[in-house]
Amino acid sequence: MHVRRRQQLGYPTSFWSFPSFFRVIVVVMYASSTSALRRKSAAFVFPGARGYIPRLRSHSSLLFNERRFFSTSVSAAATVKDSPGSNSKKTGYYVTTPIYYVNDKPHIGHAYTTLACDVIARFMRLDGRDVFFLTGTDEHGQKVEQSAAKAGKSPQTFVDEVSQNFRSLAKIMEFTNDKFIRTTQADHKAAVQALWKQLEAAGHIYLGAYEGWYSVRDEAYYTESELVDGKAPTGAEVVWVVKEPSYFFKLSAWQEPLLEFYAAHPNFIAPESRRNEVISFVKGGLKDLSISRTTFKWGVPVPEDDDHVMYVWMDALTNYISALGYPEAKGSSPTPYQRFWPADLHVVGKDILRFHAVYWPAFLMAAGLAPPRRIFAHGWWTKDRQKISKSLGNVIDPVRLVEQFGLDPTRYFLMSEVPFGNDGDFSNDAFVRRVNNQLANELGNLFQRSLAFIAKNCEGQVPEPTSALTEADVAMLRSARGLLETVRPLVRDEQALHRYSEALNRVVNEGNRYFDEQAPWTLRKTDKDRMATVLYVTVEALRSVALLYQPLIPASASKLLDLLAVPSERRTFADVGADAALTPGTPLPKPEGVFPRVEDPDAPKDGAASPAKQKQHKKTKAP
Ligand code: MSP
Repeated sequence: MHVRRRQQLGYPTSFWSFPSFFRVIVVVMYASSTSALRRKSAAFVFPGARGYIPRLRSHSSLLFNERRFFSTSVSAAATVKDSPGSNSKKTGYYVTTPIYYVNDKPHIGHAYTTLACDVIARFMRLDGRDVFFLTGTDEHGQKVEQSAAKAGKSPQTFVDEVSQNFRSLAKIMEFTNDKFIRTTQADHKAAVQALWKQLEAAGHIYLGAYEGWYSVRDEAYYTESELVDGKAPTGAEVVWVVKEPSYFFKLSAWQEPLLEFYAAHPNFIAPESRRNEVISFVKGGLKDLSISRTTFKWGVPVPEDDDHVMYVWMDALTNYISALGYPEAKGSSPTPYQRFWPADLHVVGKDILRFHAVYWPAFLMAAGLAPPRRIFAHGWWTKDRQKISKSLGNVIDPVRLVEQFGLDPTRYFLMSEVPFGNDGDFSNDAFVRRVNNQLANELGNLFQRSLAFIAKNCEGQVPEPTSALTEADVAMLRSARGLLETVRPLVRDEQALHRYSEALNRVVNEGNRYFDEQAPWTLRKTDKDRMATVLYVTVEALRSVALLYQPLIPASASKLLDLLAVPSERRTFADVGADAALTPGTPLPKPEGVFPRVEDPDAPKDGAASPAKQKQHKKTKAP
């Protein structure tokens, strides 16, 4: 490939215009520079190096040794918890889901929170971070105790069974959690007791008596003034707890420190509207919190006073540190706790934000531990505009969704239909429309028609871009290769997952327009060199796009990358740019469809077309 085209495809020509002995000297010089610099300059000096192995054989050995050196030095640096935002080292990243009550089988709300965390975890791993992704089950408390009694089982037997459903869901949805914690595990219980002792020793716990309203469904205390028509503000039933001995946490002392903390860490609570709600709640005054009960048994005993079991939220919140081995400092150094705490991100539903953004940082600060870095509260799903509830019989079973529509369509729909943070409505119609429009008609279509055309006209190999690149080609490549810079802050800093998927779609749609405008089927008759270049640019742009789709639709993205013959070791986000460009002449597998159109199982079977079917991508004249 000559110099001009190298430059156009993103390769700096100045380097290549030097004689090879000079290039070797540059390589040696650059091998002795600092490792951070080395990584940056590697991408700059050798873009496309792996992709062009046959051509670069003469000076490639040094090159590939260098690459190997980078990866070892990077993983050696993987131990230190760095400030968020840094992407230069493989630093720790800790993301958590809430732990789910095991009173019933998982529903769409559970699947949704964990899915969002899974997308973020996959994204951060592919972006070079050393990720720890935690989920699990919350197995103590009155709600679970009552559900076990209703099922006629002992609490332990009951939680063992129900917890298994959550593990199975994680498998079915291909969640990549690194650990699944259960609060009935001995090490977790020991950690909760250790935290209690730490708080007690520091003078933050005292014995008193509680009387007041309690909602078993919410596992939350409410004041008289919070009740709405005799119920909790969430609509849950409340019961009056007759005065009983209780330990209290001095939450009232944390009002000012919390407000100062929120002010000093404006990104601690997101979205912004939720942050404002929390701040006004805290400004309204904090009362001391009852953290133990004596009228039931299914919980972690209070140290030295086993008439009391701990308040289930104190037990549950501690999972975020017990899973990292807190309080033990044993094991390899640095310990998981040292590597991953404070958590980078707790993702929670809006209903449980208060526990995470008020109680949890107060407990941690009181115990002398660092609060998490960020809490993101997402919204709730409704079904056909109605609240989802067992009594209405409209609970959405995520396992059934996967059976009906397939896993990747389900993942894709849930992550792209609704701005993450807002409430959203689930309907089969919206599902079918979104998945068919974007995955089948846009992404699948561009893959299918470009690869089918290559199979027919380019001997089934990655075409060689033999003509000079036009402005349209350069613009297309720039859009695809620039995607990582666009989406990284959306996922890492804002958790704007819908905007992440929108950004990918925009480039796919641009790809379809580019393909239509360049019309390789016409070029086949008039200018075969130009045809090959257009096809190369299309599949090379699709390569970057498919890499970035991996967190959202992992199995489909992997099939797409297989269709482009992208080697498995070239599938991280470090490969999005020109340095891992497709190698012309690489044989491609036989193209096949990756996104079958989905059907609404409830739609009338009389052949009447749904709006989704009518809105197919305008097919071009491609043969
Ligand atoms: N056990 C507590 C969390 C303890 S974390 C230290 C709990 N469990 S839960 O099983 O009731 O809820 C778990 C999550 O499911 C919450 O984040 C909640 O917001 C979410 N959802 C429950 N129903 C939902 C919808 N209809 N839509 C979206 N998410 C919803 O709370």
